[in-house]
Amino acid sequence: MGLAEWIGLGAQDVRAFGVAGLLHDLGKVKIPKDILNKAGKLSPEERTIMNAHPIEGARIIIATEKDLDLAAVVAYEHHIMLNGGGYPSLRYKRDCHNASKLVHVCDVYDALRTKRPYRDAWAAEKVLSYLEEKMGTEFETDVTRQFIKMMGERETKVAVVTSEDQAVWTS
Ligand SMILES: [Fe+2]
Repeated sequence: MGLAEWIGLGAQDVRAFGVAGLLHDLGKVKIPKDILNKAGKLSPEERTIMNAHPIEGARIIIATEKDLDLAAVVAYEHHIMLNGGGYPSLRYKRDCHNASKLVHVCDVYDALRTKRPYRDAWAAEKVLSYLEEKMGTEFETDVTRQFIKMMGERETKVAVVTSEDQAVWTS
């Protein structure tokens, strides 16, 4: 939502992108825990099961709430790269929704900044360089540039919520 706001989207879009961001990995509820938390590399069979989470997520969202169509699209598209790589593979190459491109960048940032059973968390600068390096191939260029710019200003700051509707940035 922060990035959606940063790039100048209106309140309704910011909210819709936010809901989509929150639900993007919902399909992981269908993935067995031993695969989700595996410390080592996934076998090809396990990888196939894991890579079904975007489709599973889109299915669950559409079956549950048809007004969340953007969230379903983002759940489906959030691992598709700008160059068409990633998963699920599209039968016909097409552009993904902007919300998916935005969530893709934020998701990879979050994943790499977080300690996982199979690796330590990366430092912020390392993740931002990685995003920059893959800009134009995996990640959409404009949204990635804006993300890097935004994080340059915000990563070292902590938001303190002082009242129900006001957050204050501190260094
Ligand atoms: Fe995912």
